[in-house]
Amino acid sequence: MNKLQKRSWAEPFKIKVVESIKMTTREERERAIKDAGYNTFLLKSEDVYIDLLTDSGTNAMSDRQWSGMMMGDESYAGSKNFYDLEKNVREYYGMPHFVPTHQGRAAEHLISRILIKPGDFVPGNMYFTTTRLHQELAGATFVDVIIDEAHDPENEHPFKGNIDTQKLEDLIKKVGADKIPYVSMAGPVNMAGGQPFSMENLREVKALCDKCGISLWFDATRACENAFFIKEREKGYQDKNIAEILKEICSYFEGLWISAKKDLLVNIGGFLATRNDEVYEKACNMVVVYEGLHTYGGLAGRDMGAMARGIEEMVNYDGIRARIGQIEYCGQELEKYGIPFVKPIGGHAIFLDAKKILEHIPQEQFPAQTLAAEIYVDSGVRSMERGVVSAGRDAEGGNKHPELELVRLTFPRRVYTQAHIDVTVESIASVFENRKNIKGLKMVYEPEYLRFFQARFEKL
Ligand code: F0G
Repeated sequence: MNKLQKRSWAEPFKIKVVESIKMTTREERERAIKDAGYNTFLLKSEDVYIDLLTDSGTNAMSDRQWSGMMMGDESYAGSKNFYDLEKNVREYYGMPHFVPTHQGRAAEHLISRILIKPGDFVPGNMYFTTTRLHQELAGATFVDVIIDEAHDPENEHPFKGNIDTQKLEDLIKKVGADKIPYVSMAGPVNMAGGQPFSMENLREVKALCDKCGISLWFDATRACENAFFIKEREKGYQDKNIAEILKEICSYFEGLWISAKKDLLVNIGGFLATRNDEVYEKACNMVVVYEGLHTYGGLAGRDMGAMARGIEEMVNYDGIRARIGQIEYCGQELEKYGIPFVKPIGGHAIFLDAKKILEHIPQEQFPAQTLAAEIYVDSGVRSMERGVVSAGRDAEGGNKHPELELVRLTFPRRVYTQAHIDVTVESIASVFENRKNIKGLKMVYEPEYLRFFQARFEKL
């Protein structure tokens, strides 16, 4: 290509409001991480310089969304914002019924309680922490049926979020279809490194589920990013827009749940949506027990208003292109230093391969937890562990040892600039250079559920 013809991507927005961030010294950060028990979830955000902990609820809303906040209808029942949101859930996700919830895990709680009986099995394409926990608390055993490639950080399969239909079929044969209330499919798969499934795979899974009379449910939390990868990578979708691809994806599912804190470009919210009248009726009944009336589900009217407008913005191709472009840029820069991370570059984050980077630290000494703490001390960049701590314990009480021992650098939508990424990469490069001198951690406090949020550690 002629050099003059090259055009980089750039964000399809400009910045109207800014928020100051504090710079800290290394000594301050050493103290802060020690006080936080070497757990980045326990740091105060004012001690963080560049916050890549999560893309959940950390998005910058648009001027349209902020102005919509002023139009919040804070009635207890039948808020106008609820009906605006319902209209968009129908139009963009193609689901006739929906129940708002305060965030994603509340919708997971409802659907797990409604569909699962004790002793059931729920197959899924790798686990997500809160999703699996709600399935387990409802009495199910989660079974991972993702393709093997997903467990290998170096495998460049374009759709590492795919379900292995043979594994699924084997499970159905083994336990019987009546013990499988639904197949739980997410895309892109968070714990695999933000890896998408293909439409072809989804159709195969749907055909198998139909054949066996099992329903198929979707964790649509980052569905637009999955749609983007289908457009980029799958034959036959280049000329379709994100909204069309999203609608086709959803058409194969009986229902879906969502953490609106991601795709929908808001700071709080979630919902359960379905085409199944009976499930909807049960959800309406349960939501009043755990969340609030079925027309607000634990949310303020203004939050539903921001979600309704966020749905209209989330399908903007240039917006997703710039978001994923930012993550690709980070990956390309890390590559220049030879720093290992999960390939292909995923949808919402870069996942550093802590097992490789800190190969001298055994998994029982929490290499990813250690690496996240070291990066914070170096520069104030906050990331999170996605490895043995996140995986939790097995039925016998031992640590689960996932193949993937990762540190996630997660990019909030519309928040940071390319210069923030440069600083992040430079810091990781200096930690990488010094990696041989880094020592592991021991866990000194462990909560019962979702231990990664609140566990505390000490340096070995
Ligand atoms: N499903 C997926 C795929 C998620 O990534 C999350 C949250 C949830 C469900 C639960 O939603 O947080 O609104 O209750 N993921 C966040 C993260 C926490 O950092 O990846 P929630």
